[in-house]
Amino acid sequence: MIVNLISDTVTKPSKRMLESMFSASVGDDVFKEDPSVNLFENEVAELFGKEAALFFPSGTMTNQTAIKLHTRPGDQLICDHYAHIFNYEGGGVSFNSGVSCKMIQGDRGRISSKQIQNCINPSDFYHSPRTSLVCLENTTNKGGGAIYDLVEIKKIRSLCDQENLALHLDGARLWNALEVTKEDPKVYGILFDTISLCFSKGLGCPVGSVLVGSKVQINEALRIRKVFGGGMRQAGYLAAAGSYALKYHRADLNKDHLKAKEIADTLKKCSFVKEIQPVSTNIIIFSIKDDYDQDLFVQNLKEKSILIISLGKGKLRMVTHRDYTDAQHEYLISTLLKM
Ligand SMILES: Cc1ncc(COP(=O)(O)O)c(C=O)c1O
Repeated sequence: MIVNLISDTVTKPSKRMLESMFSASVGDDVFKEDPSVNLFENEVAELFGKEAALFFPSGTMTNQTAIKLHTRPGDQLICDHYAHIFNYEGGGVSFNSGVSCKMIQGDRGRISSKQIQNCINPSDFYHSPRTSLVCLENTTNKGGGAIYDLVEIKKIRSLCDQENLALHLDGARLWNALEVTKEDPKVYGILFDTISLCFSKGLGCPVGSVLVGSKVQINEALRIRKVFGGGMRQAGYLAAAGSYALKYHRADLNKDHLKAKEIADTLKKCSFVKEIQPVSTNIIIFSIKDDYDQDLFVQNLKEKSILIISLGKGKLRMVTHRDYTDAQHEYLISTLLKM
């Protein structure tokens, strides 16, 4: 038994999900003739009350497409210094769009309207890059699965309207936030110009992300996706997995959240633990005391068939997911208590 807590991206499709994929009707999606992709895109657009949606092979490509959509070369976007778009998308913001990032030190990956306000370059001051876009992440990855307060997002939306800025959400794990807050996805559809959503994380699909936006934006996104080489042919087999996950997997995220809280409670009892960040969803970030070697600790767990990762700077991360079983959970808890 391997207990893999490296990420929720390690999940594999369930038997039932695979059956729904096998039985999908497919066509050539580059010609927009794949019925399963068309259906899936409509389902996601409708869920968020948006006019249109577009299926992508990865969350990175949805985010990068949105950034390209909302900016011109030389522009600047505003994001938290932990943002995935800045840290883990290979420098795509500058490579793909010729855009720089103004980074904010937020609270566990979340930025406030006040902080954003201080970072907007005056539109008539042509010496500075033009600020054109604000990107939020919900839940935050490097911030330990933290959830934004909707009140703050509403303030950020007002500021963006006032300053003529686009607002994009990296909602790779928005599903986790929605499962906790029980907020209506349509509220997010109203507040953000575009949202990128991942299906290959907690929802358990093998591949797939979706960008939602207006018809005009999604038509343009289709062109950008083509340029990025993201057009897929019989993608309906993958879209069918997404439709299945939307229907049957969303509610299961609760179990992942519960297990994550139990792991955090266990870590609190362990003498080797220095600090644990608050756990809001399925991500646990913690550090171990200075007299313990971090690499040795990770290696030690690996020898016990438990896989976790280091985020650098003394931080360790575990992510719970639908393939992390009750038996594995019991094993992890008892192992930690014995260490
Ligand atoms: C917050 C966030 N955004 C975007 C992505 C990118 O998704 P993908 O790995 O599908 O490119 C990830 C992946 O882990 C993520 O955590």
